[in-house]
Amino acid sequence: MKVLVTGAGGQVGQDLIAALADRGHVVHGSDVASRPMAMTARDIAWHHLDVTDLSQVRQVLGRLRPDVVFHLAAILSARGEEDPGLTYAVNQGGTHNLLEACREYRIRQLMFTSTIAVFGPGLPDPVPDDVSLRPRTMYGVTKVAGELLGEYYAARYDLDFRAVRFPGLISATLPGGGTSDYAPLMYVESLRCGRYEAFCRPEARIPLMYMPDGIRALVELANAPRERLKRCVYNIAAFSPAASEIADSVRRAVPGAEITFKPDPIRQSILDSWPDALDDTCAREDWGWQPEYDLEAMTDDLVPQIRQLIGVQASK
Ligand SMILES: NC(=O)c1ccc[n+]([C@@H]2O[C@H](COP(=O)([O-])OP(=O)(O)OC[C@H]3O[C@@H](n4cnc5c(N)ncnc54)[C@H](O)[C@@H]3O)[C@@H](O)[C@H]2O)c1
Repeated sequence: MKVLVTGAGGQVGQDLIAALADRGHVVHGSDVASRPMAMTARDIAWHHLDVTDLSQVRQVLGRLRPDVVFHLAAILSARGEEDPGLTYAVNQGGTHNLLEACREYRIRQLMFTSTIAVFGPGLPDPVPDDVSLRPRTMYGVTKVAGELLGEYYAARYDLDFRAVRFPGLISATLPGGGTSDYAPLMYVESLRCGRYEAFCRPEARIPLMYMPDGIRALVELANAPRERLKRCVYNIAAFSPAASEIADSVRRAVPGAEITFKPDPIRQSILDSWPDALDDTCAREDWGWQPEYDLEAMTDDLVPQIRQLIGVQASK
């Protein structure tokens, strides 16, 4: 199968591309940024693509005619609040451009990465799929719009549009400007310099997921038989620790790590507006979703990888 990934140079894209190539797909990466150093060793075609430019999007999709597009390109929540105009252009305009090009070239499937940021405050705990979506960030607003646009193209043009609402993702790469970054940074900074001052309160709690589970969710949803899916957009969940519990887990694996908390008012208020936990019953029932990693299993798997990453970087 021929696959195009947008925003492929980011935290999710780098791992997704590797997973898709390992499964034997013909993978084309694209990004407005150049190909990351870590990816140059792999035999993966790379295309410059700014998703805000419809003519570029049409050109790349028209030339490649992929079977599936994984549309990841986005500006994340924390960076999004610094530049709401850019966030609107990339997340909303970019998604509309991808949907239009998929319609024009009859691309079979578009996979979309939504987020817990589509939710606002005051929702039931855990939050089910179908609730009022009143996000407080431009990132959340544009992701709600992306979900709705995708559902429209599915109903109107029979595009096979599918999306997961990712929790905050943690992996052995540097995060890209999201409000959940305090979690991966606890690991990276504890291993890099023995200390980290988190920008949230110790009791801050949001849904999180280890990246291998997140990648598997995207791939499994893409492969699920269409007749089994009762909806286009699915909550997926893994675990929801308090920030202090993540710090305890890091200290267990990195003895002596000093993790302190100094809440940043803007980022803490974004965290406060997000749910503590997601109800992913629909994903479990429709396509058999199940996470493999809890917090401690993630810590055990992640710490050696970050150690290696930091070692590699230090030797350059
Ligand atoms: N990382 C998380 O915790 C998380 C959580 C929920 C949802 N998501 C979603 O998953 C997707 C990938 O997230 P990520 O963590 O890899 O983000 P990231 O910031 O690491 O990567 C995003 C990529 O998009 C690219 N990009 C930005 N503007 C672009 C443009 N105009 N045209 C083309 N590419 C552009 C960037 O260069 C970057 O490589 C996003 O859609 C994000 O909303 C991520």
